[in-house]
Amino acid sequence: MRLRHTVPGAVALTSLAFLLIIPAAPAAAASASDTLRASARGTGVRIGTAVNTDALADEAQYRDLTAAEFNTVTAENVMKWQLTEPERGVHDWAAADRLIEFAQANGQKVRGHTLVWHSQNPDWLNEEDFTPTQLRAILRQHIFDEVRHFKGKIWHWDVVNEIFEDDGSWRDTIWLRNLGPGYVADAFRWAHQADPKAKLYVNDYNNEGINPKSDAYYDLIKQLKSEGVPVQGYGMQGHLAVQYGFPADVLDNMRRFEKLGLDTAFTEVDVRMLLPTDTAKVQAQAEGYNNLLRACLLAQRCVSYTVWGFTDKYSWVPGVFTGEGYATLMDENYVRKPAYAAVRDTLRLAA
Ligand code: XIL
Repeated sequence: MRLRHTVPGAVALTSLAFLLIIPAAPAAAASASDTLRASARGTGVRIGTAVNTDALADEAQYRDLTAAEFNTVTAENVMKWQLTEPERGVHDWAAADRLIEFAQANGQKVRGHTLVWHSQNPDWLNEEDFTPTQLRAILRQHIFDEVRHFKGKIWHWDVVNEIFEDDGSWRDTIWLRNLGPGYVADAFRWAHQADPKAKLYVNDYNNEGINPKSDAYYDLIKQLKSEGVPVQGYGMQGHLAVQYGFPADVLDNMRRFEKLGLDTAFTEVDVRMLLPTDTAKVQAQAEGYNNLLRACLLAQRCVSYTVWGFTDKYSWVPGVFTGEGYATLMDENYVRKPAYAAVRDTLRLAA
């Protein structure tokens, strides 16, 4: 029915005549619709990937799939402080700017990742002995520099990343040690001043279900909200592993954050396994991807589901988790796995 309105004069055709026109449609149209992006249309959830910007520059197949399969992108590394300000006061935005151009050309939103973290900070920050007063000024400047540079082009900012331990205690970082927990409220206020339209997120792993870490976020966000701090989104990375099983109560957890007035998002989904693979693990992987996606589709305010890379060719997993891999939706040759089909089919059912 929807198609008919796009064909001039089609309204005058009988439905039988209309059906006869269908086979003339080019075969390519059918395959273009067989993507995650097309399947997500109408669900209210954007489907995204982290992007390796070297692969994006060097490889046409990677570039084509990034454009065809996703309608939001996240820089896997190039918006991290270590890369944007390698020397104090010397900024390099080039790689991130190219990604944003790519996203705009392809109708994709951009998740900004990440402003305040304990990892991938510049060497000069770690090496010099700054006072707390200096560090506060440095953090403020960093947030203003980066958020202003990308102003108007970023959909979500991951303002703070991984601030709690799994037991719910504050992670011991340069920021906590020197500034105390108030650095979080400061970071959100500064980011909001620099780009009032970007949605501002917390982001972490192992915070998908109800557990001490997500409880810590719940208490913190309730407190921040009562103080009028502009925190607007709850990001769950979703780095799962088949050998550990999958988090329970994900939907209940999302609902409690949504009741606080937040949007929710899965920001870095992958499902790794101990190598070698076998059919049971590959099947379990599809369930892992699907569990999080289903929770997102059932929640009221889950706005995006982003995978942390879509091909094993560029996955971070083997480099970090010894003996593990096969974590993404496509293998090293871009062959779709059962997990890809599961995600696509679940999106189609929800559309
Ligand atoms: C990872 C990247 O994928 C790697 O390329 C890099 O070497 C280290 O960081 N949580 C996050 C991401 O928030 O930024 C991390 O990305 C993966 C874990």
